[in-house]
Amino acid sequence: MTLTDTIASQVAVVTGGSKGIGYNIAKALIARGNRVIIGDILDKDGKAAVEEFNANAGKTVAAFAHADVTKYKDIQSMFDLAEKEFGGVDILIANAGIFSINHGLAPFDELDDSNSRIFDVNVSGVIKCNKAALMYMGKRGQGIIINSASAGGIYPTPGMCDYAATKHAVVGWTRSLAQLPNQCNVRVNAVCPTWVETDLISDGRLPKEFRDFIDATPKARMEDVVKAYLQCIDDKSLSGTTLSVLPDGIHIEEPVYRT
Ligand SMILES: NC(=O)c1ccc[n+]([C@@H]2O[C@H](COP(=O)([O-])OP(=O)(O)OC[C@H]3O[C@@H](n4cnc5c(N)ncnc54)[C@H](O)[C@@H]3O)[C@@H](O)[C@H]2O)c1
Repeated sequence: MTLTDTIASQVAVVTGGSKGIGYNIAKALIARGNRVIIGDILDKDGKAAVEEFNANAGKTVAAFAHADVTKYKDIQSMFDLAEKEFGGVDILIANAGIFSINHGLAPFDELDDSNSRIFDVNVSGVIKCNKAALMYMGKRGQGIIINSASAGGIYPTPGMCDYAATKHAVVGWTRSLAQLPNQCNVRVNAVCPTWVETDLISDGRLPKEFRDFIDATPKARMEDVVKAYLQCIDDKSLSGTTLSVLPDGIHIEEPVYRT
């Protein structure tokens, strides 16, 4: 049996799965027969999502872990719950991510050490979850990790330089792990959507000009975003690959190599 043959009925951990893209991925995975742990800091929304999934399935197919991805202890508890409830971890969707609100000003933000939160969540949070996942996947001898980057992780994104920097980091981390299957039978890929209509981009605290810019820009469809994650699971040839999701669909983004 191959990695992809066995993965369909197995166990996925989705960070930032209480709402938005993560919630939609969790729903799609459950529809394919996977069991899902949602790890998030939004307890009320996460528990409501899990109740909805279990009620629809008529059995326990999902569970919630309060998990802040910046904290190893929380990450470990989240994976421990996956083992306790469902017997192990096969898929990690490292999806939790934030915007900084002060976009247009990012390079000129006040010099304040608390500005590093976006790097703690979007970069360190992803790396910590990836590293912890490898230890749990090691026990199964297989695994698939998909990191949520962004079109802002591939293309320059003026006005949101800090967010773009974090997502370029996720792309760099993911691409650098292309050879991982040779070591431990785990594939790591990243999905890079352009704007998708979720709470992330409709936050009332965003500056009006920025919201106007988002409103005027074509969006990716949520169903294409979800399809891209499923493609990363199903296509065994994808390793260290970044899939962008643009208004016209899914594209493989080849890294630029210069010799
Ligand atoms: N919506 C877009 O336009 C868009 C585009 C490209 C990439 N993305 C990326 O997709 C991912 C999901 O975004 P979304 O649009 O669904 O946003 P969202 O705000 O709807 O959902 C993000 C989820 O992450 C959770 N989260 C935030 N910080 C966390 C932490 N420290 N620990 C655990 N969970 C945490 C939130 O509670 C929330 O449930 C993010 O990484 C985002 O950067 C979004």
